[in-house]
Amino acid sequence: MDIKERAGFTSKFGVIAAAAGSAVGLGNIWRFPYVAGENGGGAFLLIYLLFILAIGVPVMLSEFTIGRKAQRNTLGAFRKLAPRSGWSIIGVMGIIAAFVILAFYSTIAGWTLEYIVKAVSNSFQGKNTDILFENFKSQTFFPLLWQFIFMILTATIVFMGVQKGIERYTKILMPLLLLLIIAMCIRSLTLEGSMEGVKFLFNPDFSKITFNVILEALGQAAFSLSIGMGALITYGSYIQKDNHLPNTAIQVATADTVIAVLAGVMIFPAVFALGMDPQSGPGLVFEVLPKLFMQMPMGYLFSILFFVLLAVAALTSTVSLLEVVVAYFSEELNMSRTKATIISTSMIWFFGIFATLSFSSLKDFTLFDLTIFDSLDYVSANILLPLGALLIVIFLGWKFGKRQTYLETTNEQSIPFKLFRVFFFIVKFIAPIAIVFIFLNSLGLFRFLQS
Ligand code: PHE
Repeated sequence: MDIKERAGFTSKFGVIAAAAGSAVGLGNIWRFPYVAGENGGGAFLLIYLLFILAIGVPVMLSEFTIGRKAQRNTLGAFRKLAPRSGWSIIGVMGIIAAFVILAFYSTIAGWTLEYIVKAVSNSFQGKNTDILFENFKSQTFFPLLWQFIFMILTATIVFMGVQKGIERYTKILMPLLLLLIIAMCIRSLTLEGSMEGVKFLFNPDFSKITFNVILEALGQAAFSLSIGMGALITYGSYIQKDNHLPNTAIQVATADTVIAVLAGVMIFPAVFALGMDPQSGPGLVFEVLPKLFMQMPMGYLFSILFFVLLAVAALTSTVSLLEVVVAYFSEELNMSRTKATIISTSMIWFFGIFATLSFSSLKDFTLFDLTIFDSLDYVSANILLPLGALLIVIFLGWKFGKRQTYLETTNEQSIPFKLFRVFFFIVKFIAPIAIVFIFLNSLGLFRFLQS
C-alpha cells in the first residue's frame, strides 16, 4: 500500500529550520537553566554536553534515517520497516510521549503569552516580579485560557501544513532569537557580581554528581534535541532523498546546544547578581528575566521582543509534537488531516488542564512527592525519551542493520559519510549500553558504586 502523496520540506534550509525549530524551544530557555540550577551547574553542563555529542547526535541521525527510509509517521515507520513485529511499540511509546509532553509544555507555552501581554502593558516596571509571577500562576482562569489559546495556535499551523507555516517563519525568527539572547547575555554579564553566575555555570563541582544528576542530564539532552519519541522520525519522513542527513543532524544539534548554553549565560549571571536562588525551579526564567529587562536600556522593547520570540520558539516545538500524533491519526487511522488535528488537539488539551492546575487548585495533589506537572515533566524527559532513544538505536543497530543504514545515510552511496563506522558502533553498542547503565543506576541497582 502506498500512501496518499506526501508533502515534504522544500529546501535544505527548510529542513534545518523545521528540525531546529522543533529542537530549540522552552527546553533550551526555560528547562535547561532550571534543571542545571537544581543539579549543580557546571558539572551538569559538562555531562550534558557529553551526552549531546555521544548519544544525542547519533540518535537524531538514527531517527532521520528511519523516517526518511520509511516515509511514514512514527508508528507506521516501524510497521513498514519491521512488519508484524513488536518493534511498533517504539511508535506507540512515541505517541504517548507526545501527549504527555504537550500536556505540560503547553502550560509553560501559555505563560509566555501572558508574559507578552505583561511586557506590552509595561507591568514589570517598579513591581516585585517574583510576586507578579506567583500571583499569575496560582490563578486558574488565565493560565488555562492561555494554554487553550496556545493549543489553538499549534493546531492552526499543523492544520495549514508544515511548509507554509513553520518552514516559512522559522527561517526569519530563529536567527532573530539568537541575536536577542546574545544582547541579553551581554547585559547579564555586565551586571555587578555576575561572575559568580559564570562560575556556577562553567566550574564543574564533581561532588554534585550522582546517578540521578546523570539521568537528569541524559533526559535534558534528549528533551532538548527532541529525540526519543519520533518527532524526528516524522520530520525525517518529510526530508528529501538528496539531503545529507549526517550534516543536518550535526547542524541541528549545534544550533540547539549553542542556544541552551547561551540561555545559561543569560540567566545565571543575572541570578547571582540579583541575589536570587538558582534552584528556584520552573519559575526561574519568568522571575529573573523581567528583572533583567528593567535594568536594560530599551528594556521595554526588548522584553516584548523576547517573550514574542520565546512563544515562537515554543510554537515551533509544539507543532512538531502535535505533528507526531496528527501524522499517525491521518496515515494509520485514515482520518482527514482536519479531523485528526481536531481530535488530537482536544484530547491533549484535556490532559493539559491537569498540568496547568497543578500550580493552583491541584497544587497539593502529588504522586511520588511530585505535583502532576512535575511528574509529567520528569517521566517524559527522564524515562520515556531515554527509553525511546534506547529502543531506536537498538532497532537501527540490530534490526535495520548496517548495510541498510549505510545506504540510507549516504543516499545510496552518492555522498561521503566518513564517520559512518564510528556512528554505527555507537548506535549498536555504546549508546544502548550507556543508556541501560544510567537507567539501572538511577534505579539504585548499583548503589555500591556511588558510595
Ligand atoms: N526540544 C523541544 C524543546 O527543547 C521540546 C520537544 C521535545 C519537542 C520532544 C519535540 C519532541 O523545547
